[in-house]
Amino acid sequence: MTPSRILLVDDEPAFQRLGAAWLRDAGHEVEVAGDAAAAEAAFRRQPADLVLLDLSMPPYHDPVAGLELISRFAPAPVVVTTGHADHAMALKAVERGAWDFLGKPLDPDLLRVVVDRGLERGRLLAELRRLRAATGGTDDLGLVGASVALARLRDLVRRIAPTQLPVLVLGPSGTGKELVARALHDSGPRRDQPFVTVHCGAIPAELLESELFGHLKGSFTGAHADRPGLVETAHRGTLFLDEVGEMPPAMQVKLLRFLQEGTYQPVGGREQRKADVRTVAATHRDLEAMVQEGTFREDLYYRLKGMVLRTPPLSERPEDVPVLATLFLRRVSGRGARFTPDALDWLGGRDWRGNVRELRALVECAAALAGPATADELLLDAADLGFAAGEEAEAPAMDAAAPASRRTLDQEVVALERRLITQALEEVGHNHTHAARLLGLSRVGLLKKMDRMGLR
Ligand SMILES: Nc1ncnc2c1ncn2[C@@H]1O[C@H](COP(=O)(O)OP(=O)(O)OP(=O)(O)O)[C@@H](O)[C@H]1O
Ligand SMILES: [Mg+2]
Repeated sequence: MTPSRILLVDDEPAFQRLGAAWLRDAGHEVEVAGDAAAAEAAFRRQPADLVLLDLSMPPYHDPVAGLELISRFAPAPVVVTTGHADHAMALKAVERGAWDFLGKPLDPDLLRVVVDRGLERGRLLAELRRLRAATGGTDDLGLVGASVALARLRDLVRRIAPTQLPVLVLGPSGTGKELVARALHDSGPRRDQPFVTVHCGAIPAELLESELFGHLKGSFTGAHADRPGLVETAHRGTLFLDEVGEMPPAMQVKLLRFLQEGTYQPVGGREQRKADVRTVAATHRDLEAMVQEGTFREDLYYRLKGMVLRTPPLSERPEDVPVLATLFLRRVSGRGARFTPDALDWLGGRDWRGNVRELRALVECAAALAGPATADELLLDAADLGFAAGEEAEAPAMDAAAPASRRTLDQEVVALERRLITQALEEVGHNHTHAARLLGLSRVGLLKKMDRMGLR
């Protein structure tokens, strides 16, 4: 085995000699640096496998300032040496990412043990990185799926995230557009800054401007105080324009101006303010057709689509159905929960018009109805899924012969409610007001129930 390289960083000549001798005795190669700059230069020239770092050295002397050095040697493990058994400082160092600490004067045996453990950890981490790279990265960015289409999508997200290009995410409802927007943010350089969503379709046109750009006190009735807009909140981060196709034309102009110049005026204000945001926009509408029809501004369209990402419907990637269904089941029912083969067939045979959102809601409903099973044992079959989906024939509780004993009255009621709501919605072409009337509910009451059942 090649000897490990250790970088010993300390400004005391006596310790440099002694520590280096001990480490060489243990079979390591040692390089010595007497201050922070020399240490960084040495590490850049040839990264060490482990760094032994004294915190109070030039130019810092103050060990608190020395703490910031710890992160500069990544990914090598750093063992910090502190004077006078300074425990508080040692703990701070570990909080800042040091692998371990040793009090001075050093004990050679302890030094050897700590260094060996640190090197071992470094080797394991390197091996993990190597395996990850070899398997194409196990980091799925939260975008789960076994299909080629999803692998391609993840690959594009990884490549686009580091850029500052605006991204337009297109795809049918429930296919993961918002998830893609988050993944772009979380794997890009703005990940530690805010991710702010603007629901362009849900906010009334009159309010959208003040929501986006903020307003000054007194600028309209009810504006009792200055209020920052979402654009300001998103400064340095990502602004996610969800359902951008619903944005009213008057707002489209204002948004375009902001995207072109990086400046905006709060409602009721005169001075220009600045904000630096990366935009990700999403819509399930056909924006290109809207541009043709003249309902979406062409110049804004081109501004938003620096890059276009598409989230395909589930029907184009059937391999993802079992993978996603199992993911959602295990999230709610624990790691041991499973589907029977006929349940997987049932899932595969269905036409998921509501895409991943519908799949998720149905699986979660089936898991809830199947009862508070001890997590590791839950096994869902096709009948459980059919029951949750409100299929008449699959409602065993209505049939004395069916083994439905594990369902409680509450669960039966929930399933029945779900079935009646689904039917009513279908009858009236998904008009909430009409469906509510049919069911003898208020519109809000119906919407609340639908939210609870994941039917929205
Ligand atoms: N590839 C995926 N892996 C894991 N979960 C997913 C995936 N795709 C979608 N989901 C889940 O499905 C649901 C719907 O996704 P999301 O809200 O991102 O869709 P959307 O395209 O924005 O839908 P809409 O157009 O209706 O707003 C969410 O609960 C999301 O977490
Ligand atoms: Mg969405």
